[in-house]
Formats: sequence, structure tokens, C-alpha cells
Amino acid sequence: MARQMIIVLDFGGQYNQLIARRVRECHVYCEVVPYTKSLEEIKAMDPKGIIFTGGPNSVYDEKSPHYDPEILGLGVPVLGICYGAQLMAWMLGGKVSTAPVSEYGHTDVKVDTASALFSEVEKNTVAWMSHTDYIEKVPEGFRTTAVTDNCPTAAMECEGKKLYAVQFHPEVMHTREGMKMLRNFVIDICRCKGDWFMASFVETKIRELREEIGDGRVLCALSGGVDSSVAAVMLSKAVGKQLTCVFVDHGLLRKNEGDEVEAVFGPDGPYDLNFIRVNAGGRYFEKLAGVSEPEEKRKIIGAEFIKIFEEEANKIGEVDYLVQGTIYPDVIESGLGDSAVIKSHHNVGGLPSVVKFKEIIEPLRMLFKDEVRNAGRELGIPEHLVSRQPFPGPGLGIRIVGEVTPDKVRIVQDADYIYRTEIANAGLSGQLSQYFAALSNMRSVGVMGDFRTYDYAVVLRAVTTSDFMTAEPCRIPWEVLEKITNRIINEVPGVNRVLYDCTGKPPATIELE
Ligand code: XMP
Repeated sequence: MARQMIIVLDFGGQYNQLIARRVRECHVYCEVVPYTKSLEEIKAMDPKGIIFTGGPNSVYDEKSPHYDPEILGLGVPVLGICYGAQLMAWMLGGKVSTAPVSEYGHTDVKVDTASALFSEVEKNTVAWMSHTDYIEKVPEGFRTTAVTDNCPTAAMECEGKKLYAVQFHPEVMHTREGMKMLRNFVIDICRCKGDWFMASFVETKIRELREEIGDGRVLCALSGGVDSSVAAVMLSKAVGKQLTCVFVDHGLLRKNEGDEVEAVFGPDGPYDLNFIRVNAGGRYFEKLAGVSEPEEKRKIIGAEFIKIFEEEANKIGEVDYLVQGTIYPDVIESGLGDSAVIKSHHNVGGLPSVVKFKEIIEPLRMLFKDEVRNAGRELGIPEHLVSRQPFPGPGLGIRIVGEVTPDKVRIVQDADYIYRTEIANAGLSGQLSQYFAALSNMRSVGVMGDFRTYDYAVVLRAVTTSDFMTAEPCRIPWEVLEKITNRIINEVPGVNRVLYDCTGKPPATIELE
């Protein structure tokens, strides 16, 4: 049975993948394609509906992205959003101009509930607006189906041609009934069944990978994190032993983590693949000796990783494909070319230039983190791996303020293990986005038994966040903190003080370095 698909035609809007994700939440498969894709290619994808995204341009500017107007005459329903709405109006002879009053943020909208797009939506609702142009006059055959105080065409449609447009953004949460509108479009207007689940994505992707790769050889840098683990399992199910995973254990992982990764992906694990573990802790400690500047440490850790990976890749010889566990948020982060470098995240980019291969495969490129976790569950990856919290590429190297030594790594690993165990015992894991122990570079005086101590202070950090760009410190119950503190002091030699980090991001970052 052919898969029903909605295409999101991307005109450069910032929410393009979010639209796709919302459609997938309606259990309809959805892909984002750039507006440079030809009409013929789009027709060949056989979409049940097409969504034009927003974008930063003005349709009346000749250099702005446009599209072959024939797309509006295919008989396939089209929904234009923001710039996409203006483009639809403009392509069909309507008038788009600079709005006398720009609208940004929450805006009251009056909708015509007789429109199929607004079925079951409140007559007076709230939508998220962000526009400086507006549709001044709708094209012939269209009618206005929503207005705001400052926007005479907040929505328009031509029911006969199945063309719909909204000036606001139904995909963002701030549009109170946006999900209902998208569901109306996808299910009622495009007539999709809503029978797509992550299992079908996984199954189809594996089949496509198998066809694409044929008998080619595939190499994957496996970190043990969620993304590379899911990508690796998917590839192993697609091409088995044609896949080689290289796992560089830099000695800066959490307690027992290297062995846990090996247990799943190594020769005794359930998957059919070639697994190479490189125990490189010694090399890293040598390189990091005497280095305390955070960016310098990050660069050393990143460069060493690339060097080791290259050495292993050279042993394997030329491969056809390099797998990367890139997920959608990585695509955005690495695309922020002009923003200031706060921290250099070493696992975004970097690898391809040092390994000989023909093509990069990124099977998770269009998914959000929770979708990747669901894909992992569909693949049968153990829950402790699938629900693993984010862990930075440079590992404990950036959770130890100042110089990194084997002894300090041992302290952080043990303290962090106790912290994680007690958070789990208290049933709090699900409420925290990220939590870990770090080691401050501070030594202070204490007294244990009858003796003076001069030892390190462990810092406990726990935050909640939805996007990791901003974060709130968590209010962990005092009794839980007390228990963790006692255990760390009693069980981890070299620590005589435990501090809790109450700072949000900004002004702090989540990691200490
Ligand atoms: P910060 O410390 O920048 O962290 O607030 C935000 C999120 O990114 C993770 N992080 C990294 N992840 N490589 C990574 O893969 C890195 O170099 C890196 N630095 C920070 C951090 O754990 C948090 O989830």
C-alpha cells in the first residue's frame, strides 16, 4: 500500500520542520522539501497535500523565492502559511503589500467556522502572527475566512480548488487551536487516513537504506548517545555486517558507560555489525595535562577524536558511506553561521573531511529528539539507552573545571553515579531535562572525624528546558539533596563539600564549561 504523504514546501521559514512534525503528530507522513525542487519531482512524490511555509521575504521582490503556479492547479490541496499565504495570493493575481501595522505575537482572530479549515475552532481564537506584509486583496474566486483588527485577510480560501491560506502560524503552540486547524487540513481536506506511525517510518527507512546502499560499505562514529545509537541500529538492520561502528572511549564518559555501550553494540550484543572500541583514555589524559582553559580543552578533545577516528578509518580503508546521527535541532544549530561562538560543540561537523567516503547518510535528519527516541523504541533499543539524557561530546572534560586528571574524573564519575541513582530512587528523573555532577576547581577546608581536610567541592546541577537554549534550575526537594550530599561525602574520597547550582541559562550555561 502506498504511503500517504504531505509535502512541506520550504520557502526559508524558521518553523518549517515544526510544521512537518505537527503533521506527523496527526499520524500522516510528512517531508520538508526546498522550494528549489521541481514541480515534476514534487508530482512524482505523489503528495496528498502541500503546505507552503513562511519565509523572511516579500513576494513582490523579484529575488524572493517563487514557484511554478501550476502547483496550485494539480487538484492537490495546498495550505499557504504566512509568506506561503502571500505567495499563493500573489501567484493567483491577488494583491500583497506592506501592512500599515505589522503584527507580532499573540493576536485575536475572528474565524469563519463554516470553513473546513476552521471546523470546531472557536469563532474568536488566538493566533501567533509575525508579518510585515499582508494580503490586501484576495485573488478572484477566493473568500476571506479570518480577520484581525489589523489584518483584513488573516485567512482566505477557494474551496472549489482546495486552496487555503493563513497569515498566522498554526504550527506554533501559541496559536491556541493551530493543531486543530492542521488536523482539519490534513485529515478532512487532504483526506489522509492518519494511519502512519513511527514504526512505518523505521520500516520504510530501513528498506530505503538497503536499496540505496546495496552492497556498499558503511562507517559510523558511535558515541553511545541516543542519536548515533538509533542511526547505528537502523543501519545494522538495513545492511548488517556491511556496517562498522567505531566507538572512541575517551575516558571521559560517565561511570560504566563505555562497558554499557559495548554490551549493546559489541560482539555479545543483539546487533549484527562490526564494532570497534578504542580505549583512548590514556591518550586524552596526556594531551589534557596542564590545560585548564575551557575552549582549549574542547579543541584538544575534538581534535583527538578526529585523529583517532581517522586512524581507525584508515585501517578499514575506503568506505562508501559515512553515517551521521544528525537530527533536526543539530541542523539548525550548525546553521547559525553569524551567531557568536559561546562554546564549540565538537560533534557537529568536523568528521567528513578526514574520512574517505562517497556520501553521507543522515537517516534521522528530519526528526526531533523525542521522535528519535520513539524510533529507537520501535527498533527495540534498550530503554536506558533510548531515554538517556543529553551528554556532551567532550564528556566529563567540560564538567571538570580546570585541569582534567584521572583522579578528578574518578571523583566526578562516582559523585554523578550517586546523584543519578538517588534522583531515580526519588522518582524525579522524568521531571528533569538534564542533571549531573561536576567538579569545581575549588578546594576548601573541612573537618572529617577529628581531622582537617582540604578537598574538592562537587557541584550538582539539574535543569528543566524544552530546547536547551534557555533553562531553569530545578527545585529538588531538600531531603533528596541532603541524602545525595551525605552519600557523596561518605563514599567519594577527595570531596568535602557539595554545592547546588541555582543558576538558570542565561546567565549560566547548562554545562560548567
Ligand atoms: P550549554 O552548556 O551550552 O549546553 O548550555 C546546552 C546543551 O548542549 C550540550 N552540550 C554539548 N553537546 N557537544 C555536545 O554534543 C558539546 O560540545 C556540548 N557542549 C554542551 C549540553 O550538555 C546541553 O545539553
